[in-house]
Amino acid sequence: MGTKTKRIGILTAGGDSPGLNAAIRGVGKAALNHGMELVGFRDGFRGLVENRRLKLDKSTLAGILTVGGTILGTSRDKPHRMLIDGRTRDMTDVIRENYKKWGLDCLVCLGGGGTQKNALRLKQAGLNIISLPKTIDNDVAMTDATFGYATALDIATETLDRLHSTAHSHHRIIVAEIMGHRAGWLTLGAGIAGGADVILIPEIPYNVAKIAEAIRRRSRRGTNFSIVAVAEGAMSRDDARAFAAADDKLERARNQAEKKAAKLALLEMDLRHQGNTLRLAKQLEALTHLESRVTILGYVQRGGTPSAADRILATRLGSACADLIAEEHYGVMVAARGDGTEAVPLERVAGKRKIVPPDHSWVQTARLVGTCLGD
Ligand code: F6P
Repeated sequence: MGTKTKRIGILTAGGDSPGLNAAIRGVGKAALNHGMELVGFRDGFRGLVENRRLKLDKSTLAGILTVGGTILGTSRDKPHRMLIDGRTRDMTDVIRENYKKWGLDCLVCLGGGGTQKNALRLKQAGLNIISLPKTIDNDVAMTDATFGYATALDIATETLDRLHSTAHSHHRIIVAEIMGHRAGWLTLGAGIAGGADVILIPEIPYNVAKIAEAIRRRSRRGTNFSIVAVAEGAMSRDDARAFAAADDKLERARNQAEKKAAKLALLEMDLRHQGNTLRLAKQLEALTHLESRVTILGYVQRGGTPSAADRILATRLGSACADLIAEEHYGVMVAARGDGTEAVPLERVAGKRKIVPPDHSWVQTARLVGTCLGD
């Protein structure tokens, strides 16, 4: 009795990143070589609810290794809280029914921290799930790296390189905002690689006076320009204390009214924080009497063709995923581990975030070469 041909569903969810198509190709080509069938679902988990499918075969997988973004489209929709016809609904049961209706043996989810949580929810709902770690933030737990990060690191580093010439020519402080709300890996890595004079990350709340003093010290030594690499989520010590207090208030909320008020307060703080980089540049200009200018790298960091490093990582993780499906080893994330991979149970990944430890070797490295970290 021949074994049933396995049918694999695959989707991409959360923010896009370079390497997603390389990963889709890695899973796909390896799965086809295992004699499996593939069906892509468009726009993240919503595609599973609304039957938005794309057949994946040799021809659709051809040529996508080098293509940015995701041929499947993506979204930040969550299975258990999805906006359908103006109402937020739990669509887990619909997803489970469609998974069965389409005869899927496994669903592969490519995404970041939020997607790992959604993958665990669907595992707990009885689906065979395997996830791959994707994000330019590199903040997914239990994996050495996420695809997307290496390319964004190259882009951000090249940007800092280019900003040096204009800062030097105009004797200016250039403040470059790099992506990463909760984790500073991209800013720390690009700051070191790009020779930033100041690196500010969410994990190390900063003191503006200390930053200004470091810039003035450079001026006194005759170097009257500075490059400040600041993560989206970096903040002053005062703001960090205020956020911590607001988070604590939400944690301790005793009823819905208190919870709603605490969430509103946090939302207002988040909105105010969006102008932080500009405010920081103005503060530094006032304190150092050097002109300051701001560059926000934004979505350029997520665009375009993946680097060779990301293509290798995405292909490694994708092909390892197909092997796990062949072994029917489900309920795991395919983690990068050294030169190999490791199947990590989703329970150990979901809800955790890999942030920069204050004593991380990269933090020490930056300090040793005289970089100011704002503390
Ligand atoms: O999670 C990756 C990321 O690019 C973050 O670095 C950034 O803060 C966020 O996504 C932006 O989210 P969106 O694409 O929904 O605006």
